[in-house]
Amino acid sequence: MSSTKLPIHAQFPTASQIVYGCMGLGGSWDDQPYQANHVAQAQQVIETALESGITIFDHADIYTRGKAEKVFGEVLKQQPSLRDGMIIQSKCGIRFMDETNPGRYDFSKEWVTHSVEGILQRLNIEHLDMLLLHRPDPLIDLEELTQTLNQLQASGKVGHFGVSNMNLHQMAYLQQGLNSPILVNQLEMSLGKLDFLNSGVMVGTQGDERNDFTSGTLEYCQTNKVQLQAWGCLAQGRFAEQGLQSSDDAVRATSEYVAQLAADYGVSSEAIVLGFLKRHPANIQPVIGTTNLDRIRACAQMNHVDLTREQWYKLFVLSRGVALP
Ligand SMILES: NC(=O)c1ccc[n+]([C@@H]2O[C@H](COP(=O)([O-])OP(=O)(O)OC[C@H]3O[C@@H](n4cnc5c(N)ncnc54)[C@H](OP(=O)(O)O)[C@@H]3O)[C@@H](O)[C@H]2O)c1
Repeated sequence: MSSTKLPIHAQFPTASQIVYGCMGLGGSWDDQPYQANHVAQAQQVIETALESGITIFDHADIYTRGKAEKVFGEVLKQQPSLRDGMIIQSKCGIRFMDETNPGRYDFSKEWVTHSVEGILQRLNIEHLDMLLLHRPDPLIDLEELTQTLNQLQASGKVGHFGVSNMNLHQMAYLQQGLNSPILVNQLEMSLGKLDFLNSGVMVGTQGDERNDFTSGTLEYCQTNKVQLQAWGCLAQGRFAEQGLQSSDDAVRATSEYVAQLAADYGVSSEAIVLGFLKRHPANIQPVIGTTNLDRIRACAQMNHVDLTREQWYKLFVLSRGVALP
């Protein structure tokens, strides 16, 4: 798909820059079972993604309460050869609320092992290429967790590990006990969620106390060859056609410029929004969550976008809505 060299290419040379996020597959988030139409949807989405050059598929055990993995696994059961062209990652560590407990995080040996068994079973695979820890568990027992992960790797059930929504300190702490390098960190980053950039440019300047990105995380990942993946990368379509009508001046101005760049490059607005992430020197992988087949194809046009420094900064500043310090 793209000739860009990504950090993840050291382990997965066929990895595409765009990752397909499977959170929208499998129907509803309630206990209703999935239907045949959900399997058909998954099949169309998988085929469209692969045809568009997308080779990485992102799951989590919680997506639509396991149904996203189940419908994906149904497709793999029907067409086992599809697996050969795929790199599959899933996540664990988040638990839903139940009768007696609130929603919580769980990095215990029992939960992580149980979760991986469930992931493999639902996806109909014997080997998961990457397992990501979904959100940091404050009650982490480093020794217990890393021994569990090392064992999962030694058993051949999981190839590599990554994290999600973790800062550099949490990554460094976890890395101490792992037998192999953390490959991925998945965080919310987009033209609409700029904290990952604002945390860097506001050093020494009175800033926005609502910034939720830990400074140094990008640099840690780049130094340690950790692949950054951006969830929420399309900002739910905020800068597409709908943005042109926005009552928010910054969103409207950004959307107008996105539309202008899309016309100049001869691509979709989605390709420009993703191109903003692609231009970053960390070679960020956008994780796209659309289930619209045309939009998947529109996203793949990102490969034809190579924003200039000036175009990138104009997008950044327009979306910030405030000049840089
Ligand atoms: N690690 C984490 O904590 C975490 C958290 C959330 C998500 N994720 C992963 O990241 C993936 C993407 O996340 P996401 O779904 O929140 O983000 P996203 O890809 O930015 O947003 C997708 C949503 O935006 C809509 N959308 C996108 N472009 C649009 C447009 N031009 N016009 C109208 N609607 C548009 C899509 O609708 P259509 O389907 O109609 O196109 C879809 O509902 C997920 O699938 C999941 O794999 C990870």
